[in-house]
Amino acid sequence: MNTILQNAYPSIEEIAGCNCFPSDERFLRGSVAVIECIQEIPCNPCEAACKHGAIEIGNSITNRPVLKEDLCTGCGACVSKCPGLAIFIVNREYNEKEAAVTFPHEYLPLPKKGQEVDAVNRTGNIVCKGIVIQVNNSANNDCTTVITLAIPKEYANEVRGMKRLDREDAKALHECICNKTGNTDDTIVCRCEEVTSQQIKDAILDGAVSLTGIKRRTRAGMGLCQGRTCQKIISRMLCGMTGLTEDKIDPDTARPPVKPVSIAVLGGDEND
Ligand code: SF4
Ligand code: SF4
Ligand code: FES
Repeated sequence: MNTILQNAYPSIEEIAGCNCFPSDERFLRGSVAVIECIQEIPCNPCEAACKHGAIEIGNSITNRPVLKEDLCTGCGACVSKCPGLAIFIVNREYNEKEAAVTFPHEYLPLPKKGQEVDAVNRTGNIVCKGIVIQVNNSANNDCTTVITLAIPKEYANEVRGMKRLDREDAKALHECICNKTGNTDDTIVCRCEEVTSQQIKDAILDGAVSLTGIKRRTRAGMGLCQGRTCQKIISRMLCGMTGLTEDKIDPDTARPPVKPVSIAVLGGDEND
């Protein structure tokens, strides 16, 4: 089977099957949000970010978002607010031959408007060339830059990012951004368990050299999302502090249940 649980990215079928994929009729009217959030995780900033009421999570924070396509103006305000980097703006009608795809881009250095870059799909593989038509790193985006590329129309459903550029000046730029925004060691790395960057660093200094070691010391990764949000960041912190490469960091042990399950179901009431 071709699913997010096996591949770590959603398949076209999974995306098309959730309540967030606009209809062909809506795509014909220009820019619209495409929300590729298909798992029941405790998260809802997208709902608050949309001032047009086009995203609905509802009463339970683990509900998947629902896109009300007729209310979506394609403004893009939700893109940088999604911690899962799961929201894109697609304009299939950008011009006769090209579509425009907008996505979050958390790598430095940033491209320049007019620059030709490699456009990549959900797996990070290059699918075509794209021209940067907008680089939005306004303060409102809180350090998540939002890039818009013009790409050949036929790749509008495929392109979801760009290949990261040469990292020569990245470290200095990153420090500059952190200084500007006051990003500190109090930054929450594991949202579910509210574990800070400093606590992760302390665990590594205490001798943790694996995700499991950090989990045992801090609970990071034990929350409702089972580490889907935080493990990648923690891996990078481990690499940065220990000199290990990412392929040497063992994946964490995944244990069921993989989504919230009510007591009634565990107790055998299949109707719940
Ligand atoms: S693109 Fe704008 S209108 Fe559409 S869902 Fe996002 S914030 Fe709402
Ligand atoms: S991961 Fe993004 S799209 Fe999904 S619920 Fe959270 S903010 Fe919304
Ligand atoms: S953010 Fe969910 S377990 Fe860490």
